[in-house]
Amino acid sequence: MKDKTNLTGLNPENFQSVINGKKTDLYILRNSSGMEMCITNYGAIVLSIMVPDCHGKFENVVVGFDTLEEARRQSKDYYIGAVIGPVAGRILRGTFRVGEKDYHLQLNSVSNTLHSGDNGFHTVVWQARQPRENQLFLHYLHADGEAGFPGNIAVRMTYTLTEDNAFRIDYEAETDCDTLFCPTNHAYFNLTGIGNPTTSIENHLVMINADFYLPTDENTNHTGEIRTVADTPFDFRSCHSIGERINQNNLQLLNGHGYDHCFVLKKAALHELSFAAACISPVSGRKMDVYTTEPGLIMYTGNYLPGFTGMHNTTYPRRSAVCFETQCFPDTPNNQHFPSIVLREGELYKQTCIYQFSTQS
Ligand code: BGC
Repeated sequence: MKDKTNLTGLNPENFQSVINGKKTDLYILRNSSGMEMCITNYGAIVLSIMVPDCHGKFENVVVGFDTLEEARRQSKDYYIGAVIGPVAGRILRGTFRVGEKDYHLQLNSVSNTLHSGDNGFHTVVWQARQPRENQLFLHYLHADGEAGFPGNIAVRMTYTLTEDNAFRIDYEAETDCDTLFCPTNHAYFNLTGIGNPTTSIENHLVMINADFYLPTDENTNHTGEIRTVADTPFDFRSCHSIGERINQNNLQLLNGHGYDHCFVLKKAALHELSFAAACISPVSGRKMDVYTTEPGLIMYTGNYLPGFTGMHNTTYPRRSAVCFETQCFPDTPNNQHFPSIVLREGELYKQTCIYQFSTQS
């Protein structure tokens, strides 16, 4: 039964629990134009973003769940809607060196580490405080050695549903010992609207502000090469539908089972908040522009979504949703020519990601 107290129709009681002695709950953000977001502080998971289409009809545009149990089960393997960290993406053989010490992470993707292993940020209970209707503060103290990473890392995230219809994430962190730090958000978007079944995102139009991308091998590990997008299916400098070239006989698309690649964002200055990508559903007219201070953007076209059932019996088949993960390049520890993700003791980490919604007919 849909709950009538919120547009999404989620029952807060289904998210109220205690995990490892910490309380979980459902948090609802609203802005004055009627947009709504539902979030649980378990994994800082975004469960819904209710966005108007070009006729003013509000629908959820992210993969989500009715209960905490379901969200936990599916985010464990698919990282649905969660924050990923301390380090997003794959680390070859789960090994890295900071200073004079080598660190070894849990191997959860062939013989590599994906998204910091099975005990990353997506599986912890964040301390949450909602100071106003459109904003949520999320804090987590990542203890030295947790998930294999050095340093007590104090992480602060602010989720804001802005008055101009954007979901804005501000990240801040500090550590008491040099470590690696590179979080991201793993929301799965379908701008036509999540349904039963959720329709394919292959009709979504995409633009990505990148002249280069990072090729991967058959295990989605980075080869270290930085390759031009020119004359390849990775050229999104002008608008293309996701499906137009996704099934081409291209080794990179075969390796990723579709798009699962990091794009090198064009920036006038390092750390500037700049345009990364745009995505439009030609069916609903909903448009999402992505902005970030980070140097990279992963477009992952939901190639491994298995069709499970989520919120209000909606289903999520393969390629029914797309992730735009803003972050530094993956596997920087094993590719010294990539920008560093070392967070030094005493340094303040600060990054911003904006998912800006609008319509276009
Ligand atoms: C990765 C994919 C992975 C997916 C997990 C993405 O960020 O790039 O390779 O399968 O997360 O759901």
